[in-house]
Amino acid sequence: MVSRVIPVDDFDLVIFGGTGDLARRKILPGLYLRFVAGQIPDGARIIGAARSEMDVPRYRDMVAEALQEFVPAARYDRDFVAAFLGRVFYVAIDAKGSAGWQVLADMMRSNVVRAFYFSVAPALFGDLAEKLHSYAIAGAQSRIVVEKPFGRDLQSARALNRALALHFSEEQIYRIDHYLGKETVQNLMAVRFANSLFEPLWNARHVDHVQITVAETVGVAGRGSYYDKAGAMRDMVQNHMMQLLCLIAMEAPFRFEADAVRDEKLKVIRALDAVMPDQIVRGQYSATPQQPGYVQDVENPASRSESYVALKVAISNWRWKGTPFYLRTGKRLRARTSEIAIVFKAPPHSIFEQSDGWHENVLVIRLQPNEGMTLSVMIKEPGPGGMRLSEVPLNMSFAEALGDDADDVPDAYERLIMDVIRGNQTLFMRGDEVEAAWAWTDPIIEGWEARGDKPSPYDAGSSGPENALMLMHRDGRRWREIKT
Ligand code: BG6
Repeated sequence: MVSRVIPVDDFDLVIFGGTGDLARRKILPGLYLRFVAGQIPDGARIIGAARSEMDVPRYRDMVAEALQEFVPAARYDRDFVAAFLGRVFYVAIDAKGSAGWQVLADMMRSNVVRAFYFSVAPALFGDLAEKLHSYAIAGAQSRIVVEKPFGRDLQSARALNRALALHFSEEQIYRIDHYLGKETVQNLMAVRFANSLFEPLWNARHVDHVQITVAETVGVAGRGSYYDKAGAMRDMVQNHMMQLLCLIAMEAPFRFEADAVRDEKLKVIRALDAVMPDQIVRGQYSATPQQPGYVQDVENPASRSESYVALKVAISNWRWKGTPFYLRTGKRLRARTSEIAIVFKAPPHSIFEQSDGWHENVLVIRLQPNEGMTLSVMIKEPGPGGMRLSEVPLNMSFAEALGDDADDVPDAYERLIMDVIRGNQTLFMRGDEVEAAWAWTDPIIEGWEARGDKPSPYDAGSSGPENALMLMHRDGRRWREIKT
């Protein structure tokens, strides 16, 4: 399959926090890879902006180092890097003071797309927005990109939305949830809405339950000061897991277009029931002889934050009433795997005498790694001896199906940054969507804080705390095994 690359318009992209971790790991490598793919036009400029005083050659050196470290070796090419660096510039800027702003204003060109990436702490969002406005750097056509965490509760998210809205309209604000930029996450929409096969079954009449798992093997060492204040609920559930749930549960939008899609996602979030205390399990990984535990990683022996959370979620609408969604995510688990499993109900009546081999049909959409889909179906076990049932997978690996080009699939940041330049907000969160997600999350967190709940310990390398099993067992269901 030949991938199509449509170059974007000329642009000036200013990266505030241009020397930071996200810029080095994701944004700059993402831009480089799009450059290699031929999507970045000659008239594009990338302007790093940060506090450090440095000249353009020094910044280019820093970018070159980042590319060397974070671009996959197979796609790193000296000539391309040299050409890419020719598009890179730098300005030292003080978000709260006046230093650098006039320099930046003078650098801006007219007749190109202007985009401003706020890869900085959310506390600076308001200052940056105000400066871009007062120095007339951003106009009505400019776009700003903001990263998570977008607030830590409803109140702070509202405050951020208000601060940005003082100077930018909703159409100019691109709130990133990098899960939405993942190829396989977008594929959820293609699977659901480009096939007539699944839709008639996609409801509480036919689906017994849904499991959404995002398991990681990494711990939180190195990000402890952020993570310990967030915990898995704020770090993963309020945003990434919520987006996955919305894409699985939403109604078909009338068109694949930003507001139509976001309207439907918002309806799902608003239809979520409150989560009762016995529908949540929180966990924290313990130390092993080989590895430090969570409290050592975050350097907070008294920490009660969760590195794992599992919850049972109910959606009160016509499509899903009675079909629970079980969500779980955690660090330092047995394997790195993200998947969505749609578990179908049993046939209304079995006509077979021997039903020992029977299993429910499960459609598994693997988001990472080994992206693909598996549908388990029942067949007759081959051979004599009567009608015995056996489960076989209809298995599709996207890499195999798409051939060599699977390696060229852009990563989430590559795609999302290009969407900003194109002016396409479909894969970005709208302000009301983020607020609705916090409105659902807040009481859950407030509840366990008020009760003083402690997370349950789990062994690093396990599948999570034992009591997470109970969450499913008592409903007569079980989690799928966590394995790659
Ligand atoms: C980030 C979280 O948003 O997503 C991290 O802050 C998490 O804690 C990461 O590890 C997971 O992203 P991915 O793309 O590796 O699944």
